[in-house]
Amino acid sequence: MKYSRIVGTGSYLPENMVSNTDLESTMDTSDEWIRERTGIKRRHLAAKGERSSHMGLAAARNALDMAGLSADDIDLIVVGTTTPDKQFPSTACLIQKQLGTSGPAAFDVQAACSGFIYGLDLADRQIRTGAASKALVIGAEKLSKLVDWDDRGTAVLFGDGAGAVVLAGSDEPGLLASHIHSEGEFEDLLYVCTEDGFIKMDGNAVFRKAVAKFDEMAKEIMANHDLDDAEIDWLIPHQANLRIIKAAAKRVGLPMDRVIVTVDQHANTSAASIPLALDVAVRDGRVKPGDLLLMEAFGAGFTWGSALLRF
Ligand code: ACO
Repeated sequence: MKYSRIVGTGSYLPENMVSNTDLESTMDTSDEWIRERTGIKRRHLAAKGERSSHMGLAAARNALDMAGLSADDIDLIVVGTTTPDKQFPSTACLIQKQLGTSGPAAFDVQAACSGFIYGLDLADRQIRTGAASKALVIGAEKLSKLVDWDDRGTAVLFGDGAGAVVLAGSDEPGLLASHIHSEGEFEDLLYVCTEDGFIKMDGNAVFRKAVAKFDEMAKEIMANHDLDDAEIDWLIPHQANLRIIKAAAKRVGLPMDRVIVTVDQHANTSAASIPLALDVAVRDGRVKPGDLLLMEAFGAGFTWGSALLRF
């Protein structure tokens, strides 16, 4: 097959929705501060026994339903996650078990918030070389287990959830291009501390880096694909902060009404944020078959990556 194409999308959000106002009662913060600085209004937090594999499984099942496929049709499972259920086996293997299938390769990709784009890039190459024909690419995260609820500088930013796509071989153009990059030099600006297991972040430095990398991604995609910004129907950026998203939209020359924004409802769900946002926009009818989509992610590492695709 010449291309891979998204033939189904799915997502899952935990039931427990926590608003900024709810957080005001447990930490020294305010709805106004959080909304103004980040655009976040609420986030979903997983229940105690609810893990990344459970959320990823639910999203995968929804994507399979939309594609009209069963788990037995899938011959590759890739999961982008920074919050695997276990050190090993991989969350992808745990999802494979819960799907009741065996045989096809299943593995995790750890690229922080860029994990889904990394996974999409890998799965696309597997399909185009004929190594796989139908893949589940999932982003699943339980960030709440890495959050220090005494650190208001990070606690308000994150949420839990999962998103998934089914990628299938096609002669029709689907994924047109993807680019993935990393820069380990800045690992100490955003990381999980091995001592206490909590997220540590230099928020201002990460903000500046994120805006600069979204700029680079826009230039890379425009230069390599001879694109006129008017051709892109929807920008689906990683959902970390509305101010970063606005800067990303400006760099690709798109107005905000052509940007899918879910950070207000979901907060930052890391590798889950792009497939979650895609599924929301597909199901509410904004993203339609034939639309040209640009996805852009940036996260700890630093890692970043983009994907240009015909839906
Ligand atoms: N509630 C109220 N006040 C707060 C809170 C809070 N939750 N958190 C910090 N403050 C205070 C600070 O203590 C500081 O007070 P001070 O002036 O008395 O010292 C003040 O607010 C300003 O703090 P800053 O950190 O300078 O605020 P800033 O405007 O930079 O916003 C933020 C912080 C939102 C974290 C921003 O830097 C940011 O979004 N950075 C990007 C980080 C990010 O998105 N990381 C996610 C992972 S990477 C990715 O996904 C892209």
